[in-house]
Amino acid sequence: MQQYKATAMAHPNIAFIKYWGNRDDELRLPANPSLSMNLGDLYTTTTVAFDEMLEQDEVTIDDQPADEAARARVSGHLNLVRDRAGLRGVSARVVSRNNFPIGVGIASSASGFAALTAAACAAAGLDLTERELSALARRGSGSASRSMPGGYTEWLMGRGNASSFARSVAPAGHWDLRDVVVVVSREHKAVGSSRGHGMAVSSSLHAARVTAASAMLDACKRALLARDLAAMGALIEQDAVMMHAVMMTSRPPLYYWTPETMAVIQAVQSWRADGVTVYFTIDAGPNVHLICEAAAATEVQARAHALPGVLDILVSGPGGPARLVEGHLF
Ligand code: DP6
Repeated sequence: MQQYKATAMAHPNIAFIKYWGNRDDELRLPANPSLSMNLGDLYTTTTVAFDEMLEQDEVTIDDQPADEAARARVSGHLNLVRDRAGLRGVSARVVSRNNFPIGVGIASSASGFAALTAAACAAAGLDLTERELSALARRGSGSASRSMPGGYTEWLMGRGNASSFARSVAPAGHWDLRDVVVVVSREHKAVGSSRGHGMAVSSSLHAARVTAASAMLDACKRALLARDLAAMGALIEQDAVMMHAVMMTSRPPLYYWTPETMAVIQAVQSWRADGVTVYFTIDAGPNVHLICEAAAATEVQARAHALPGVLDILVSGPGGPARLVEGHLF
């Protein structure tokens, strides 16, 4: 083993066309392709050190020891790296820090597993391509595949493990969009994404959404490349609502929206009537992501602040790829 310790950083991302449901849960092969923007102002930094003296993997997230479920998920992911590098049986110390709060509707699993994958592979001396790193990050958390390449990225369904990776469709500098995250709840969600993906097939709407997804993604990608926010916005709102319709009609049903979520949706429609070009999307939680151009972000933020029930607002522009960084967290 040439190198034992490495540090990487990665950005979370917001999906314009969402990933919901797997065709293979074990490999995290998605039921549909997805498209997203990396969030450059937010990041996770992770150091991984393989150490033959350690008895088991030690995982610290935001200066707290990870709970057993999180530790097991990280260990399972490290096993994929260890198997590839011939390091079975060598435990690792993992220290990870986020510059954004968790539980506010920003998928820390995306940046977390992208940074973990990049750091663990470098520490293990594996020299993988971006595609290989993206496919490997996907095994830890599906959306993490999209945080590996930079800017605006597309996760291909692929035919199997090696061909289901994300690639950049445009660099971060292509379009100065903003994600204005309107936080209406900080409560830990009762049903996380991983369980939710498994429930998607129980909704009779799932097949319809999956059938429509590729064409929606192609149209969304065309609008993105043409910097046509009105065309893209209509598609991202439609896809988010279709995904939530699948969630709400799963058995048992998953209701992530609260009255405050609906109030933001309605406000966005009235702001557009006032001439503010802004569109919403919503992940597996009640918080709402408002997508607009940089020039409109201050106005959108001020309007969102004035809504009842808004606890916090985070703003991010587009971001680059996951990358190795100098210096370690311990
Ligand atoms: C609603 O990638 O968090 O945010 O693979 O189980 O970790 P796991 O799921 P995750 O699912 C993301 C779901 C989503 C939509 C999206 O980001 O595409």
